[in-house]
Amino acid sequence: MRANIHLDKEFTVGEVDKRIFGSFIEHLGRAVYGGIFEPGHPQADKDGFRQDVLQLVRDLDVPVVRYPGGNFVSSFRWEDSVGPVGQRPRRLDLAWKAVEPNIFGLNEFMAWTKQAKTEAMMALNLGTRGIEAASALVEYCNHPGDSYWSDLRRSHGVKDPHGIKLWCLGNELDGPWQVGQKTPEEYGRLAFETAKALKLFDPALELVAVGSSNRHMPLFPQWEATVLEHCYDKVDYISVHEYYANRANDLPTFLANSIGMDAFINDVVATCDFVQAKKRGKKPIHLSFDEWNVWFHSNEADKKLTPWTVGPAQLEDVYTFEDALVVGTLINTLLRHADRVKIACMAQLVNVIAPIMTRNGGRAWKQTIFWPLYHASKFGRGTSMNLKLDVPFYENATFGQVPWLDASAIKSEDGKTVTLFVVNRSPDQTIELTGSFAGMEHLKLVGHTELHHGDIKAVNNEAHPDNVVPREKPVKPTPVGQVTEALSPLSWNVLRFQA
Ligand code: AHR
Repeated sequence: MRANIHLDKEFTVGEVDKRIFGSFIEHLGRAVYGGIFEPGHPQADKDGFRQDVLQLVRDLDVPVVRYPGGNFVSSFRWEDSVGPVGQRPRRLDLAWKAVEPNIFGLNEFMAWTKQAKTEAMMALNLGTRGIEAASALVEYCNHPGDSYWSDLRRSHGVKDPHGIKLWCLGNELDGPWQVGQKTPEEYGRLAFETAKALKLFDPALELVAVGSSNRHMPLFPQWEATVLEHCYDKVDYISVHEYYANRANDLPTFLANSIGMDAFINDVVATCDFVQAKKRGKKPIHLSFDEWNVWFHSNEADKKLTPWTVGPAQLEDVYTFEDALVVGTLINTLLRHADRVKIACMAQLVNVIAPIMTRNGGRAWKQTIFWPLYHASKFGRGTSMNLKLDVPFYENATFGQVPWLDASAIKSEDGKTVTLFVVNRSPDQTIELTGSFAGMEHLKLVGHTELHHGDIKAVNNEAHPDNVVPREKPVKPTPVGQVTEALSPLSWNVLRFQA
């Protein structure tokens, strides 16, 4: 099969906000306890931070990490997580039916972000709590001193303010599973008043209002419309969440889920723009796709968990090679919407539906899905280019006509490199890819990295951490107009072009 990607130097989507390569740490399962934090582990430092995990996080170059939830945050008392560790209460976490010992809390997380070379995206509890607790937390984190909450922070040994800029106004409050579920009217009012208080403290804070928990929620997209009609003036982003699954073991449909993600983004953008128009507003509301991933492998195991333990093995999806392909197409979709999707967090970072896995007391390793995120974070910063893909389609009952290839194109920040990320969805056809780059004909193919495995269900694990790994394919520097590059059936490809 043959395909062509057409780019034009003058036609761009927009700058890629690096926060599109963000991630998420929730107090859930072994994300914190046994994941990023494991005192006594041979790789842990004096603070209990696992250095092997930190190295993998730095390798991913994660620009922002959402914290501390998720569903967890909706009944969380942040005050429990600060101050002398011995005096912190153990609490029942109603969201995940686990025990939260509060040994690792807010200030520990902020210390961890420094080592991880990342920034915090802090979520507020607007499930069981409200304006007062949210304002107190922001003052505790960001005010230098000489006020009740900032002095409390200083008394906890943290002299300098954390300076957290990005705040989530709650989590999934449309969901019946959420502690403190709200109607869109209730939430819209609360989000507006909380945002107002926070922006009185600091107008430069960036605030994310809660959007629908997924595209199939009964209130979508009326939820977004109503919420934004209340809080449009005070917020900057609306959150978008979606997880993808292959429960029916139907590969052609699973691989086409990016088409659903694309439609979801278009619907949310249209709703934001509708409210903006109604308000005669000047600012666009951007999207924070702050939970996305494949999630289904662990569903059955989670039903058998014993409740009320610390750090249970919960949501521990072991990802296959096909999941990595889907993740590649989802990243492409986010990049193709770089003009409106400014933040995206793969959910989550370690152990819990995550690219990084650990064993308590044992090693840390990269899951299959680590690789497309790694490549995108490394080569996907710059300007997202408009691309026209000429490639045959297959018919799918759920998604209609699905192109055999899925692609995105990024011009690097220094303008010297154009990178194509391409997934070949075909199970049996090599695709001969050509490129026509108008105004960039001088570029030559200088690199082709491929992630491919003969077994679509192949996984990485502690014994075989390098079962699914990318490999460099030999390339001769050839001008783009003369390149015909073979893309293996079922593969994720990173093609780099330079002068
Ligand atoms: O990421 C796991 C969970 O998925 C989060 O806690 C919640 O926000 C979503 O439903």
